[in-house]
Amino acid sequence: MNAMRPCVLFFCLLLGRVSAVKNLNNIDDLSKVDYVRHAPRHGLQLLFWFSQKVRNIDQNQILTLDSNFDPTRGDFGFCHFENKEAVLPTLSQKSYYTVGNLNSPGANALPAYVQEYKNVGSPARNMDRLIVSVNPVHPNRVYNVYIAALNFGSDDFNQNATHEINYSLIQQIRGSRGCTMDLNNNLISTHGDDTEDERCRQFLTQLEYNRRSNHSIDPNCDTLEKFNVKLRANREGNTKLIWKDMPASIMKTFHRVHIVICKSDHLISNTDDDQCKLKNKILISKLSETLDTSVPLEAGLQTRLLLHSSNFFDESAVPHVCYGPELDDANGVTPTKIKGCDASLQLYTEGGKACARLYIKKTFNKWKEVFYKSWVGFYTDAQKENEEYSIYQYADRFDSVKENKDYKIYKFQSGMKISPGFQIRFLLDKKYNKVLARTTPWDDSEKVMISPSDCENMINKDLSHWFNPEFFYGPEFDNANNVLPTNIKGFEASLQLYTKNGKACARLYIKNTFRNWQNDFSKSWVGFYSNFQDSNDDYASYDYAVKFTKVKGSKDYDIFEYQTSLAIAPGVQIRFHQYETYDSELARTTLWMGV
Ligand SMILES: *[C@@H]1O[C@H](CO)[C@@H](O)[C@H](O)[C@H]1NC(C)=O
Ligand SMILES: *[C@@H]1O[C@H](CO)[C@@H](O)[C@H](O)[C@H]1NC(C)=O
Ligand SMILES: *[C@@H]1O[C@H](CO)[C@@H](O)[C@H](O)[C@H]1NC(C)=O
Repeated sequence: MNAMRPCVLFFCLLLGRVSAVKNLNNIDDLSKVDYVRHAPRHGLQLLFWFSQKVRNIDQNQILTLDSNFDPTRGDFGFCHFENKEAVLPTLSQKSYYTVGNLNSPGANALPAYVQEYKNVGSPARNMDRLIVSVNPVHPNRVYNVYIAALNFGSDDFNQNATHEINYSLIQQIRGSRGCTMDLNNNLISTHGDDTEDERCRQFLTQLEYNRRSNHSIDPNCDTLEKFNVKLRANREGNTKLIWKDMPASIMKTFHRVHIVICKSDHLISNTDDDQCKLKNKILISKLSETLDTSVPLEAGLQTRLLLHSSNFFDESAVPHVCYGPELDDANGVTPTKIKGCDASLQLYTEGGKACARLYIKKTFNKWKEVFYKSWVGFYTDAQKENEEYSIYQYADRFDSVKENKDYKIYKFQSGMKISPGFQIRFLLDKKYNKVLARTTPWDDSEKVMISPSDCENMINKDLSHWFNPEFFYGPEFDNANNVLPTNIKGFEASLQLYTKNGKACARLYIKNTFRNWQNDFSKSWVGFYSNFQDSNDDYASYDYAVKFTKVKGSKDYDIFEYQTSLAIAPGVQIRFHQYETYDSELARTTLWMGV
């Protein structure tokens, strides 16, 4: 009897608490959540950012994230959330992952607008979290989204502050993310020219976010909204300081303006003390400028603007301080999937040197066999041929660094200086033609700032689940505009749009091991759409998969083709539907881009 009581108690507690999670269905509901709406809280900013990463919301209200975004891998500082306080319902197949701790490794990859208040002197700056539930097998499908917060001054979650975010609210926040084509067949985002930063500002204004509450940033810094200061790599692996559009009014108001580069120790100490170690201090005389420094590029570097009211070099006079975001060691770029494998590759820097990180999913336990001859090549320029690597290391000789619940992480330090255009590649074996991953070139202009979700339905870059890397090097690319086949979700099959005699054609690849395919695809059909924006029932032509003509096979694949009378043109797309319905889509190809 005695032994039972705690269990019963615990059970009640659990039920009572879980039922308390409130639902936020729209912007109106969100505007009633008071705690997120005051600086330096960052819950709204997190929610806005996350909504931008959602690429699609399906009929079952499951959110699909950008294909290169994996919460289980630790992207943006995501980590496993154990739900110890039982603020959320208990899960079986799925797990919770949380993001928003600005002191966690990886959080520096979050955009500047999320980190805006990171340096203000109040624990309130780092209390908010976003939590998602995912099935680690398909980590970029999100089932539930919550905003949550810690209790003030502690690490416990506050039940009262936990709210589930309805998918329709996510949809409202991200806005319509369509793309249209201009007269030259270039894709343009329907967002217009507003940057994500500006849209976040508008969102905060709409929710009457109070920037002027306690511990907010110095009011002088608000006039610096358009001022832009960046840290980049120079050819020597050192930091290049770039600033643009310093308001002339600031230069007039203040006697001296400095930009300081310092290295934050947030990752080591979690205190409120200012732990930024001075590396360089530059007196500003121009409104825009680019300067080389001798500070090696590394994680945690930060810029600060010091605005001095007095002209005297009086050490005791405290300047106004405006804070820039901290540098991420990978430039804010998430790891690149290694085609066909549950593994990814990331280029990052330590002390100005180029390094590679390898993420191996724990379920990929045969990785050392599969990668037995695989190597990572370091290239000083993304234009170089595969043979022209400067240095390489075998994948199985990387050093083990750490692991999380789902991944093991390995690294290799090349000793080479990081520089603009630097790239690393993952090659399957000693031949030079099997590149399974190539990273975004380092500091590749501003590309890293553009979210792939800027145009949904547009470019299907999701090659991540493809199963046989060897396949990519066959002659199959002919007439397909150099676009790889699109995986058919959940099956060992894929779909490709190609052209013959000016007509749109479909090619189906079925892996030999997928013996049951005629069964599983007995009702499946491929729809041809003259425009990628057409809805599923608006197809121009179609045929059943089982009626496709077998053209040739290889050791591993059977290949089937079907030709329509639809003329190939920019914007044409084909989609694979499993059943005779419009809501069973399993694949849609990259839209045809013209030649
Ligand atoms: C949560 O809300 C309840 C009821 O409004 C209140 O009694 C309680 O003190 C709150 N708890 C916290 C931690 O804020
Ligand atoms: C989510 O929002 C939709 C549309 O507003 C609504 O129909 C649905 O009931 C909401 N879901 C929950 C769980 O409240
Ligand atoms: C600001 O601080 C004061 C005193 O610490 C407090 O009473 C007040 O509620 C705070 N205001 C906001 C908006 O947090």
